[in-house]
Amino acid sequence: MNLSELKTMMDEAVVEANAAMTNEDLEAVRIKYLGRKGVLPAVMKELRSLEPSERADVGKTANEFKQTLNKLLDEKGRKDNEGSAAGEGFDCTLPGRWHRLGTIHPVSAVIEQTVSIFRSLGFTVSDGPDIETRYRNYTALNTPEHHPSMDEQDTFWIGEDDLLLRTQTSPVQIRAMESCQPPIRIVTPGRCYRRDTTDATHSANFHQIEGLYVDRKVSLSDLKGVLAYFAKELMGEDVSIRFRPHFFPFTEPSVECDFSCHVCKGSGCRVCKNSGWIEIAGAGMVDPRVFEKVGYDTEKYTGYAFGMGIERLVMVKYGVSDIRMLYDNDLRFLKQVGR
Ligand code: PHE
Repeated sequence: MNLSELKTMMDEAVVEANAAMTNEDLEAVRIKYLGRKGVLPAVMKELRSLEPSERADVGKTANEFKQTLNKLLDEKGRKDNEGSAAGEGFDCTLPGRWHRLGTIHPVSAVIEQTVSIFRSLGFTVSDGPDIETRYRNYTALNTPEHHPSMDEQDTFWIGEDDLLLRTQTSPVQIRAMESCQPPIRIVTPGRCYRRDTTDATHSANFHQIEGLYVDRKVSLSDLKGVLAYFAKELMGEDVSIRFRPHFFPFTEPSVECDFSCHVCKGSGCRVCKNSGWIEIAGAGMVDPRVFEKVGYDTEKYTGYAFGMGIERLVMVKYGVSDIRMLYDNDLRFLKQVGR
Protein backbone atom coordinates (compact mmCIF):
# COMPACT_ATOMS: atom_id res chain seq x y z
CA MET A 1 0.00 0.00 0.00
CA ASN A 2 1.48 3.33 -1.02
CA LEU A 3 1.19 6.57 0.82
CA SER A 4 -1.82 7.94 -1.04
CA GLU A 5 -3.75 4.66 -0.65
CA LEU A 6 -2.97 4.76 3.02
CA LYS A 7 -4.27 8.31 3.32
CA THR A 8 -7.50 7.45 1.50
CA MET A 9 -7.99 4.56 3.87
CA MET A 10 -7.40 6.87 6.82
CA ASP A 11 -10.13 9.20 5.60
CA GLU A 12 -12.53 6.29 5.23
CA ALA A 13 -11.78 5.07 8.72
CA VAL A 14 -12.50 8.51 10.17
CA VAL A 15 -15.81 8.72 8.30
CA GLU A 16 -16.79 5.26 9.55
CA ALA A 17 -15.85 6.10 13.11
CA ASN A 18 -17.90 9.28 13.04
CA ALA A 19 -20.88 7.48 11.57
CA ALA A 20 -20.87 4.85 14.32
CA MET A 21 -24.09 5.07 16.36
CA THR A 22 -23.44 2.56 19.11
CA ASN A 23 -20.54 1.16 21.11
CA GLU A 24 -20.82 -1.99 19.00
CA ASP A 25 -20.37 0.04 15.80
CA LEU A 26 -17.27 1.69 17.27
CA GLU A 27 -15.85 -1.66 18.25
CA ALA A 28 -16.43 -2.96 14.74
CA VAL A 29 -14.43 -0.03 13.30
CA ARG A 30 -11.63 -0.70 15.79
CA ILE A 31 -11.48 -4.36 14.83
CA LYS A 32 -11.60 -3.63 11.12
CA TYR A 33 -8.63 -1.23 11.20
CA LEU A 34 -6.64 -1.95 14.33
CA GLY A 35 -7.53 -5.54 15.22
CA ARG A 36 -4.98 -8.34 14.95
CA LYS A 37 -6.26 -9.27 11.51
CA GLY A 38 -7.14 -5.70 10.71
CA VAL A 39 -6.04 -3.37 7.93
CA LEU A 40 -3.23 -1.59 9.82
CA PRO A 41 -1.24 -4.64 11.01
CA ALA A 42 -1.39 -5.83 7.40
CA VAL A 43 0.10 -2.53 6.22
CA MET A 44 2.87 -2.85 8.84
CA LYS A 45 3.70 -6.32 7.60
CA GLU A 46 3.94 -5.04 4.04
CA LEU A 47 6.42 -2.30 5.02
CA ARG A 48 9.42 -4.55 4.47
CA SER A 49 8.52 -5.05 0.84
CA LEU A 50 8.42 -1.31 0.14
CA GLU A 51 11.17 0.84 -1.29
CA PRO A 52 13.27 2.23 1.60
CA SER A 53 12.38 5.80 0.55
CA GLU A 54 8.66 5.04 0.76
CA ARG A 55 8.96 2.79 3.79
CA ALA A 56 9.80 5.61 6.22
CA ASP A 57 6.86 7.78 5.14
CA VAL A 58 4.32 5.00 5.05
CA GLY A 59 5.52 3.66 8.43
CA LYS A 60 5.31 7.07 10.05
CA THR A 61 1.88 7.82 8.60
CA ALA A 62 0.58 4.38 9.61
CA ASN A 63 1.71 4.98 13.18
CA GLU A 64 0.07 8.37 13.25
CA PHE A 65 -3.07 6.81 11.82
CA LYS A 66 -3.10 4.22 14.60
CA GLN A 67 -2.86 6.87 17.27
CA THR A 68 -5.42 9.19 15.68
CA LEU A 69 -7.98 6.45 15.16
CA ASN A 70 -7.52 5.06 18.67
CA LYS A 71 -8.00 8.50 20.13
CA LEU A 72 -11.05 9.23 18.00
CA LEU A 73 -12.72 5.91 18.90
CA ASP A 74 -11.99 6.40 22.61
CA GLU A 75 -13.32 9.92 22.67
CA LYS A 76 -16.42 9.14 20.72
CA GLY A 77 -17.18 6.12 22.88
CA ARG A 78 -16.88 8.18 26.07
CA LYS A 79 -18.98 11.02 24.70
CA ASP A 80 -21.81 8.80 23.52
CA ASN A 81 -21.98 7.08 26.90
CA GLU A 82 -21.98 10.37 28.78
CA GLY A 83 -24.53 11.73 26.33
CA SER A 84 -27.10 9.11 27.13
CA ALA A 85 -26.59 9.48 30.88
CA ALA A 86 -26.81 13.28 30.82
CA GLY A 87 -29.79 13.24 28.52
CA GLU A 88 -27.89 14.47 25.48
CA GLY A 89 -28.60 11.73 22.98
CA PHE A 90 -32.21 12.24 24.13
CA ASP A 91 -34.94 11.58 21.60
CA CYS A 92 -37.17 14.61 21.91
CA THR A 93 -39.72 13.16 19.52
CA LEU A 94 -40.69 10.39 21.97
CA PRO A 95 -44.07 11.13 23.55
CA GLY A 96 -43.63 12.13 27.20
CA ARG A 97 -45.05 10.23 30.14
CA TRP A 98 -48.36 11.68 31.24
CA HIS A 99 -48.92 12.17 34.95
CA ARG A 100 -52.56 12.38 35.88
CA LEU A 101 -53.26 15.37 38.10
CA GLY A 102 -55.46 14.75 41.10
CA THR A 103 -58.73 16.59 41.62
CA ILE A 104 -60.23 17.97 44.80
CA HIS A 105 -62.78 15.52 46.18
CA PRO A 106 -66.33 16.89 45.73
CA VAL A 107 -66.93 16.73 49.49
CA SER A 108 -63.80 18.82 50.13
CA ALA A 109 -64.70 21.17 47.27
CA VAL A 110 -68.14 21.88 48.71
CA ILE A 111 -66.70 22.35 52.22
CA GLU A 112 -64.22 24.89 50.82
CA GLN A 113 -66.91 26.75 48.88
CA THR A 114 -69.32 26.76 51.82
CA VAL A 115 -66.72 28.00 54.25
CA SER A 116 -65.66 30.75 51.90
CA ILE A 117 -69.27 31.95 51.42
CA PHE A 118 -69.82 32.11 55.20
CA ARG A 119 -66.48 33.82 55.71
CA SER A 120 -67.63 36.52 53.32
CA LEU A 121 -70.60 37.05 55.66
CA GLY A 122 -68.33 37.51 58.67
CA PHE A 123 -68.37 33.97 60.08
CA THR A 124 -65.16 32.46 61.39
CA VAL A 125 -64.27 28.77 61.26
CA SER A 126 -64.04 26.84 64.51
CA ASP A 127 -63.24 23.24 65.15
CA GLY A 128 -64.10 20.39 67.47
CA PRO A 129 -63.03 16.76 67.97
CA ASP A 130 -64.71 13.73 66.39
CA ILE A 131 -64.71 12.01 69.79
CA GLU A 132 -67.08 13.92 72.02
CA THR A 133 -68.55 13.63 75.48
CA ARG A 134 -72.11 12.57 76.11
CA TYR A 135 -72.52 15.96 77.77
CA ARG A 136 -71.65 18.08 74.73
CA ASN A 137 -73.23 15.87 72.09
CA TYR A 138 -76.50 15.41 74.01
CA THR A 139 -76.99 16.78 77.54
CA ALA A 140 -75.86 20.37 76.99
CA LEU A 141 -77.89 20.36 73.77
CA ASN A 142 -80.98 19.83 75.86
CA THR A 143 -81.42 16.26 74.65
CA PRO A 144 -83.34 14.33 77.33
CA GLU A 145 -81.96 11.02 78.57
CA HIS A 146 -84.73 9.04 76.91
CA HIS A 147 -84.33 10.64 73.49
CA PRO A 148 -84.29 7.91 70.80
CA SER A 149 -81.12 9.22 69.16
CA MET A 150 -79.20 8.29 72.30
CA ASP A 151 -80.17 4.71 71.72
CA GLU A 152 -77.37 2.30 70.86
CA GLN A 153 -78.86 2.10 67.37
CA ASP A 154 -77.81 5.60 66.46
CA THR A 155 -74.70 6.36 68.46
CA PHE A 156 -71.27 4.78 68.41
CA TRP A 157 -70.45 4.77 72.11
CA ILE A 158 -66.86 4.45 73.17
CA GLY A 159 -65.96 2.46 76.26
CA GLU A 160 -67.94 3.34 79.36
CA ASP A 161 -70.71 5.30 77.63
CA ASP A 162 -69.49 8.79 78.41
CA LEU A 163 -67.52 9.17 75.21
CA LEU A 164 -68.93 8.78 71.73
CA LEU A 165 -68.26 9.53 68.07
CA ARG A 166 -70.19 12.75 67.57
CA THR A 167 -73.50 12.17 65.80
CA GLN A 168 -73.71 15.82 64.71
CA THR A 169 -71.48 18.91 64.59
CA SER A 170 -73.76 20.67 67.11
CA PRO A 171 -71.49 19.94 70.13
CA VAL A 172 -69.14 22.53 68.63
CA GLN A 173 -71.82 25.12 69.45
CA ILE A 174 -71.36 24.20 73.11
CA ARG A 175 -67.56 24.35 72.84
CA ALA A 176 -67.72 27.77 71.22
CA MET A 177 -70.16 29.21 73.75
CA GLU A 178 -68.24 27.72 76.68
CA SER A 179 -65.09 29.46 75.55
CA CYS A 180 -66.33 32.93 74.58
CA GLN A 181 -69.03 35.50 75.09
CA PRO A 182 -71.41 36.82 72.40
CA PRO A 183 -71.36 38.01 69.73
CA ILE A 184 -70.45 34.65 68.19
CA ARG A 185 -70.57 33.91 64.51
CA ILE A 186 -69.01 30.57 63.56
CA VAL A 187 -69.19 27.75 61.07
CA THR A 188 -67.75 24.30 61.69
CA PRO A 189 -67.33 21.70 59.00
CA GLY A 190 -66.60 18.16 60.14
CA ARG A 191 -67.27 14.45 60.18
CA CYS A 192 -70.22 12.88 61.97
CA TYR A 193 -70.96 9.28 62.77
CA ARG A 194 -74.21 7.36 63.13
CA ARG A 195 -75.05 3.71 63.35
CA ASP A 196 -76.95 3.85 60.08
CA THR A 197 -77.12 1.13 57.49
CA THR A 198 -75.57 2.46 54.34
CA ASP A 199 -77.91 2.97 51.39
CA ALA A 200 -78.31 5.48 48.55
CA THR A 201 -78.91 8.39 50.93
CA HIS A 202 -77.36 7.26 54.24
CA SER A 203 -73.84 6.57 55.39
CA ALA A 204 -72.48 5.74 58.84
CA ASN A 205 -69.88 8.44 58.31
CA PHE A 206 -70.86 11.73 56.73
CA HIS A 207 -70.12 15.45 56.97
CA GLN A 208 -72.02 18.40 58.33
CA ILE A 209 -71.33 22.07 58.56
CA GLU A 210 -72.66 23.72 61.68
CA GLY A 211 -73.45 27.41 61.91
CA LEU A 212 -74.09 29.47 65.03
CA TYR A 213 -74.84 33.15 65.41
CA VAL A 214 -75.54 34.60 68.85
CA ASP A 215 -75.99 38.30 69.48
CA ARG A 216 -78.61 40.76 70.61
CA LYS A 217 -81.81 40.71 68.52
CA VAL A 218 -80.99 37.80 66.24
CA SER A 219 -84.19 36.53 64.63
CA LEU A 220 -85.48 33.66 62.51
CA SER A 221 -85.67 35.97 59.51
CA ASP A 222 -81.89 36.54 59.83
CA LEU A 223 -81.47 32.78 59.58
CA LYS A 224 -83.69 32.61 56.55
CA GLY A 225 -81.87 35.45 54.85
CA VAL A 226 -78.46 33.92 55.44
CA LEU A 227 -79.48 30.47 54.22
CA ALA A 228 -81.19 31.92 51.14
CA TYR A 229 -78.07 33.95 50.34
CA PHE A 230 -75.87 30.91 50.86
CA ALA A 231 -78.06 28.75 48.60
CA LYS A 232 -77.82 31.23 45.74
CA GLU A 233 -74.07 31.69 46.14
CA LEU A 234 -73.44 27.94 46.09
CA MET A 235 -76.01 26.77 43.56
CA GLY A 236 -76.81 29.81 41.43
CA GLU A 237 -79.49 32.49 41.27
CA ASP A 238 -82.35 30.20 40.32
CA VAL A 239 -82.38 28.14 43.51
CA SER A 240 -85.08 28.73 46.11
CA ILE A 241 -85.34 27.57 49.70
CA ARG A 242 -88.22 26.67 51.96
CA PHE A 243 -88.61 26.14 55.70
CA ARG A 244 -90.73 23.34 57.19
CA PRO A 245 -91.57 23.23 60.89
CA HIS A 246 -89.62 20.53 62.72
CA PHE A 247 -88.33 19.60 66.16
CA PHE A 248 -84.82 19.60 67.59
CA PRO A 249 -84.20 19.52 71.35
CA PHE A 250 -81.75 22.43 71.16
CA THR A 251 -83.68 24.89 68.98
CA GLU A 252 -87.07 26.51 69.43
CA PRO A 253 -88.70 27.06 67.05
CA SER A 254 -87.02 24.45 64.83
CA VAL A 255 -87.19 24.10 61.08
CA GLU A 256 -85.90 21.94 58.31
CA CYS A 257 -84.59 23.79 55.32
CA ASP A 258 -84.98 22.42 51.78
CA PHE A 259 -83.30 23.66 48.61
CA SER A 260 -85.13 23.42 45.30
CA CYS A 261 -83.50 20.69 43.21
CA HIS A 262 -80.67 22.14 41.18
CA VAL A 263 -80.59 19.10 38.89
CA CYS A 264 -84.18 19.15 37.56
CA LYS A 265 -85.01 22.74 38.57
CA GLY A 266 -87.92 21.49 40.60
CA SER A 267 -89.65 19.30 38.05
CA GLY A 268 -88.65 16.02 39.73
CA CYS A 269 -85.71 13.67 39.19
CA ARG A 270 -83.78 10.82 40.78
CA VAL A 271 -81.65 13.12 42.94
CA CYS A 272 -84.66 14.76 44.62
CA LYS A 273 -86.74 11.57 44.51
CA ASN A 274 -89.26 13.36 42.30
CA SER A 275 -90.21 15.90 44.92
CA GLY A 276 -88.40 18.89 43.41
CA TRP A 277 -86.87 19.67 46.84
CA ILE A 278 -83.91 18.37 48.82
CA GLU A 279 -83.63 18.44 52.58
CA ILE A 280 -80.38 20.25 53.31
CA ALA A 281 -80.35 21.53 56.88
CA GLY A 282 -81.84 21.34 60.32
CA ALA A 283 -82.00 24.75 61.96
CA GLY A 284 -83.76 27.00 64.40
CA MET A 285 -83.44 29.57 67.16
CA VAL A 286 -81.11 28.44 69.94
CA ASP A 287 -83.26 27.14 72.82
CA PRO A 288 -82.77 29.30 75.96
CA ARG A 289 -82.09 26.10 77.88
CA VAL A 290 -78.90 25.68 75.88
CA PHE A 291 -77.90 29.25 76.74
CA GLU A 292 -78.47 28.40 80.41
CA LYS A 293 -76.10 25.43 80.14
CA VAL A 294 -73.29 27.66 78.90
CA GLY A 295 -74.13 30.55 81.21
CA TYR A 296 -75.40 33.06 78.63
CA ASP A 297 -77.93 35.68 79.67
CA THR A 298 -81.17 34.51 78.04
CA GLU A 299 -82.75 37.94 78.46
CA LYS A 300 -79.99 39.64 76.53
CA TYR A 301 -79.15 37.22 73.75
CA THR A 302 -80.84 35.27 71.02
CA GLY A 303 -79.25 33.20 68.32
CA TYR A 304 -79.78 30.88 65.44
CA ALA A 305 -78.07 27.62 64.61
CA PHE A 306 -78.08 25.37 61.58
CA GLY A 307 -76.52 22.08 60.59
CA MET A 308 -76.24 21.28 56.89
CA GLY A 309 -75.48 17.92 55.33
CA ILE A 310 -72.44 18.38 53.10
CA GLU A 311 -73.10 15.21 51.10
CA ARG A 312 -76.61 16.47 50.41
CA LEU A 313 -75.17 19.70 49.04
CA VAL A 314 -72.72 17.75 46.90
CA MET A 315 -75.44 15.47 45.56
CA VAL A 316 -77.72 18.29 44.53
CA LYS A 317 -74.92 20.48 43.21
CA TYR A 318 -73.32 17.79 41.06
CA GLY A 319 -76.39 15.65 40.36
CA VAL A 320 -75.20 12.57 42.25
CA SER A 321 -78.07 10.24 43.10
CA ASP A 322 -76.22 7.74 45.33
CA ILE A 323 -74.17 8.89 48.33
CA ARG A 324 -71.98 5.77 48.11
CA MET A 325 -70.40 7.11 44.92
CA LEU A 326 -68.75 9.75 47.07
CA TYR A 327 -66.83 7.13 49.04
CA ASP A 328 -66.08 4.51 46.38
CA ASN A 329 -63.04 6.41 45.11
CA ASP A 330 -63.80 5.46 41.54
CA LEU A 331 -61.46 7.72 39.58
CA ARG A 332 -63.81 7.84 36.58
CA PHE A 333 -66.45 9.39 38.83
CA LEU A 334 -64.09 11.66 40.74
CA LYS A 335 -62.58 13.01 37.53
CA GLN A 336 -66.00 14.14 36.33
CA VAL A 337 -67.31 15.53 39.59
CA GLY A 338 -64.20 16.83 41.35
CA ARG A 339 -62.50 20.09 40.61
N1 PHE B 1 -77.72 18.70 64.58
C1 PHE B 1 -78.94 18.57 63.82
C2 PHE B 1 -78.91 17.24 63.06
O1 PHE B 1 -77.87 16.67 62.91
C3 PHE B 1 -79.11 19.71 62.85
C4 PHE B 1 -79.30 21.03 63.55
C5 PHE B 1 -78.23 21.84 63.77
C6 PHE B 1 -80.56 21.45 63.90
C7 PHE B 1 -78.39 23.08 64.39
C8 PHE B 1 -80.74 22.64 64.51
C9 PHE B 1 -79.67 23.47 64.74
O2 PHE B 1 -79.90 16.76 62.59
